[in-house]
Amino acid sequence: MNEQTQRIILAITGATGMLYVTALLDLLADQNVAVDAIISAAGSKVLGLEQDMVPEDLPNINRWFAVADFTAPPASGSARYDAMIILPCTVGTLGAVASGFSGNLIHRAADVTLKERRPLLLAVRETPLNRTHLNNMLALHDAGAIICPPMPSFYLHPADLATMARQFAGRICDQVGLHLHKLPRWQGIS
Ligand SMILES: Cc1cc2nc3c(=O)[nH]c(=O)nc-3n(C[C@H](O)[C@H](O)[C@H](O)COP(=O)(O)O)c2cc1C
Repeated sequence: MNEQTQRIILAITGATGMLYVTALLDLLADQNVAVDAIISAAGSKVLGLEQDMVPEDLPNINRWFAVADFTAPPASGSARYDAMIILPCTVGTLGAVASGFSGNLIHRAADVTLKERRPLLLAVRETPLNRTHLNNMLALHDAGAIICPPMPSFYLHPADLATMARQFAGRICDQVGLHLHKLPRWQGIS
């Protein structure tokens, strides 16, 4: 890892959408980005259900931190990270971060990311949304976070689910300042 390497925290929580996680990690494979990861207990469960994987099967992770480990680097603003992505993000984790409740390392790292004024992206996944969810999203938007629900687009004609997930993963990268040259871009219709 050299001085130019960007370092991000990837937090995986227990919402549906684990295909986006593997898409993001595949996208970052040959990039100069070190991914330090945290996964909640529910995240591990849903990863198993949807992808038939355990966390250790996920590719291109630089380092794992236990979700209960408050001594880990992401718990401190002095650790150098460029951004944090919560993908997918449950409404439970959304609520914890919105209220400043640092109940586990994911919540604490998100709180630290906000206080250090670094990009924090929450790929919140739930439907339909109740007033509490909407209020929590607005509170975090106002606090400087990026609310980026996984909403697939169709105008680039994704051939399959993996391609669709990859396009969304690319949008996430753009949002947190990881500008990848290999992403498909809308070129207009002429
Ligand atoms: C298969 C499955 C899918 C789930 N999908 C969602 C979801 O899309 N959004 C959500 O907020 N919670 C979802 N949940 C519920 C969360 O996993 C649960 O509320 C959990 O306590 C969240 O904990 P965490 O935020 O620490 O991961 C799902 C649970 C299961 C088993």
